[in-house]
Amino acid sequence: MKPDYKEAKVRDKTKVEVVDYSIDKSLINKYKGKKYFIKTYGCQMNEHDTENICAMVEEMGFVPEEDYSKADLIILNTCSIRENAHNKAFGMLGRCKHLKEKFPNTIIGICGCMSQEEVVVEEVLKKHKYVNFVVGTNNLYDLPEVLDKSVKTKSPMIEVTSNDDTIGEDIPVTRASKFKAYVNIIYGCDKFCTYCIVPYTRGKQRSRSHESILKEVNKLVKEGYKEVTLLGQNVNAYGKDLDDNYYMEDLLEDVAKTGIPRVRFLTSHPWDFTDKMIEVIGKYPNIMKSVHLPVQSGSSRILKLMGRRYTKEEYIKLFDKLRSIPNMTISTDIIVGFPGETEEDFKETLDLCEYCKYDNAFTFIFSERVGTPACKLDGKVEEPVKEERLQRLNKVVNKYFKESNKKLLDNTYKILVEGKNETGKTRLFGYLENGKLINFDGDESLIGEIVNVKVTDAKTWSLDGKLVK
Ligand code: SAH
Ligand code: SF4
Ligand code: F3S
Repeated sequence: MKPDYKEAKVRDKTKVEVVDYSIDKSLINKYKGKKYFIKTYGCQMNEHDTENICAMVEEMGFVPEEDYSKADLIILNTCSIRENAHNKAFGMLGRCKHLKEKFPNTIIGICGCMSQEEVVVEEVLKKHKYVNFVVGTNNLYDLPEVLDKSVKTKSPMIEVTSNDDTIGEDIPVTRASKFKAYVNIIYGCDKFCTYCIVPYTRGKQRSRSHESILKEVNKLVKEGYKEVTLLGQNVNAYGKDLDDNYYMEDLLEDVAKTGIPRVRFLTSHPWDFTDKMIEVIGKYPNIMKSVHLPVQSGSSRILKLMGRRYTKEEYIKLFDKLRSIPNMTISTDIIVGFPGETEEDFKETLDLCEYCKYDNAFTFIFSERVGTPACKLDGKVEEPVKEERLQRLNKVVNKYFKESNKKLLDNTYKILVEGKNETGKTRLFGYLENGKLINFDGDESLIGEIVNVKVTDAKTWSLDGKLVK
């Protein structure tokens, strides 16, 4: 089944059905010893999907391979959010084409958000006929069967559902880390911000049952995990599509009570942030005092065109409430060059950043996505103007990153040690409770542990520190 944009727009009241993952026995270890390579292009949800894909293909007998040119199976787990993500995946597809000319038996598959785009699948069918299969984000649990069928039939298998009313449970997972884990709590998005493709590529908003989520978190606690990140395109909307009167604040509280040392959550749309949530975040020491609160623009006029459902003033009110929680750090996402954005509008964004002094910010140039309402808006901003605005914005936000890092100097914080620093030697890196990156000297045996580190130097993007008892 090919993706269908018209269907992807539909939001109806059909009850969501839970599909328990199962794999046909004949597929287990069928590809024993064959090698797979996977490349992930997108957000944390996409990364977590990769963890599921890895486990599913490993069940089929594939083993990981880091060099794509040596792999028997290549999977691209794609992202549609901006044009450059798109281009990167098509670039990689080109390399796969050459490889397939040399090794015709290589299996090539596309997963992730691009598989949900009509235009992408059309292009694949026209220009990339060597692709063996495309599996959508909503029915990812079908992957083993689709992969196997495509090998048998030797023709491209497109298995993408667009208006999906299912949630896959019990999908196996090969977690990238032994001490921090992603846990999906809500799929899809119903916000339809006018620039964004996610509501079309991830389908309607579907919350997992809190029982399933808590079961997964409790299992992670037992396995010795130190951190969970609750995932969703808009986690704050958790539970709104269910009728058990149980919402994000309830879930946060119950997850905190499992005793897992660190709880994070991503991403929060300002619209659904409740005072109760803020209360719970303040109350539990194991809920990290770090919130990602995308603002997108500082101009209420542009926010309206973006369909964000809040004004600058409403955003600031929420921001101030969150900031009043001791040690809270707040990060954001900003888009420049949205259609109709004037110099005045842009200055309002700069002013907002001067006010908020974000601890971190991800800044983007508006990228037109086929099928989204923003494509039809007048007042397109010229490329050079967009570029120039991005640079000016980055200058302002970077100044505050360093300032926010400097405030931490000489204090001691709890760090979850994540690994060896890429520069090698004995330097380790980890993250503070507030999400800041820190490098320090220490023994590798500390990886996965929570230790105390004193901040000795503050840079724009990271901190240096010293291990203390
Ligand atoms: N669900 C999250 C955002 C997920 S996408 C939220 O609403 O906050 C991550 C970020 O990508 C967005 O916050 C936005 O800043 C950026 N983004 C999304 N669509 C974009 C587009 N068409 N062009 C440029 N940036 C975009
Ligand atoms: Fe996209 Fe808006 Fe949904 Fe975030 S809330 S995923 S920006 S539509
Ligand atoms: Fe990209 Fe899809 Fe995530 S578009 S940002 S991978 S939800």
